[in-house]
Amino acid sequence: MGIKYKMKNYILFIYKIWAKVYDNYIDKLFSFNRKKVIEFADIKKGQKVLEVGVGTGLNLPYYSNCTVYGIDFSKEMLNKAKLKKSNAKIILKKMDANSMDFKENSFDRAITTYVLRVSPNPKKILKELSRVCKPNSKLIVLDQFLIKNNLFLYLFQPIKILLGWGKEYYIKELIKNSNWKIIKIIPFGKMKNTKLIILKNDK
Ligand SMILES: C[S@@+](CC[C@H](N)C(=O)[O-])C[C@H]1O[C@@H](n2cnc3c(N)ncnc32)[C@H](O)[C@@H]1O
Repeated sequence: MGIKYKMKNYILFIYKIWAKVYDNYIDKLFSFNRKKVIEFADIKKGQKVLEVGVGTGLNLPYYSNCTVYGIDFSKEMLNKAKLKKSNAKIILKKMDANSMDFKENSFDRAITTYVLRVSPNPKKILKELSRVCKPNSKLIVLDQFLIKNNLFLYLFQPIKILLGWGKEYYIKELIKNSNWKIIKIIPFGKMKNTKLIILKNDK
């Protein structure tokens, strides 16, 4: 049994617990302007959007006039997402973002908030996202990243992994060798290392 398989099972176990308190407590710790994140995706009427790691569906109320496929590998998180209202058509599926059950070039836009840092294999997710998204499609990533010479971020990594919050990466290191090209990096939210990244699928 590989380390990534064990990590996946650990994350599934943790999010089974977090699902109960995510909206009322966990989200409050890392809260950010979700409406603004969706606005940055610049979604046009009728487009197909993929949200990876949709969790309890806290972004869902901010979509409209499009179809959103929300995937997550945690059944308990998805069950909470089913209760959220939206003006978009929402389709929720239990799926591992490392191997998605979608055809190539299925989506116009993709969004993922606080997921790459949690997942044991974020580079694989970026690869899959490139496959299922159309050429020149846009990906919005909201996450916390490593900052050079910030010892504090390094020291707390083991605790964050234990809490199921994963670990931060350097933005450029994460994107390197993927088809995604960075268009813009925008400081976002309360914490200095929280960034919104706009990427283009250059495949
Ligand atoms: C910190 S929560 C973020 C949830 C939501 N995006 C938000 O902004 O509130 C991380 C979510 O990513 C999901 N996740 C992590 N790795 C995943 C993967 N490989 N495939 C599908 N879901 C994944 C977890 O189950 C969890 O629901």
